[in-house]
Amino acid sequence: MAENIFVPQGYPTRAEREAINGHSGVCVWLTGLSASGKTSIAIEVQRLLQERGLHAHALDGDVMRSGLSADLGFTPEDRAENIRRAGAVAGLMVNAGLIVTCAFISPYAAGRAAARAAMPEGHFIECYVQCTVEVCESRDPKGLYARARAGEIQNFTGISSTYEIPESPDLVLETHIEDNTPRACAEQVIALLESRGFLKG
Ligand code: ADX
Repeated sequence: MAENIFVPQGYPTRAEREAINGHSGVCVWLTGLSASGKTSIAIEVQRLLQERGLHAHALDGDVMRSGLSADLGFTPEDRAENIRRAGAVAGLMVNAGLIVTCAFISPYAAGRAAARAAMPEGHFIECYVQCTVEVCESRDPKGLYARARAGEIQNFTGISSTYEIPESPDLVLETHIEDNTPRACAEQVIALLESRGFLKG
């Protein structure tokens, strides 16, 4: 809808900001069911990055939905808009030279592809936080699965709304396996970032 928009020129570039930060800007996108462990892993990734003195920030579904996306629900259209906004904000952060973790169910492949397209090419790492519905439901930290089963919550991912499994994620983190603690998963994320050259100056 926006017309007559001109992209301003002359601001410091991502490359200039990255040179100051001493590492690249990159988006680590965590997708998976509610209670699969996305936020727990993102917190550990942020801690590990902070310990190394790197510049990082986090975007999280529940936080977005209490602010920027407070006007949205959980229909496919509203989820698409939520993810569009999240991708746009994450893209700004990456351009600021930050390592940004995004923890969103982001159940649709098209939404994840749109988020990828909002980043500089190659700066989007898709991590599938894989966990069976049964295990997520047994965890149910917010009591939402029980309420969805009781019919109190509509369009609940994994119960009454689809989750499209990523076809070629950069990393799969199987959190139903006991050894894959949030810290262990976060270490895998860091190792991937390292191997792709994002953490060096
Ligand atoms: S997304 O589908 O648009 O990516 P998002 O990650 O922002 O979802 O928000 C998910 C969070 O909203 C869940 O962790 C849960 O706490 C809450 N929630 C409330 N209703 C639903 C629902 N119908 N389906 C999934 N999550 C829900």
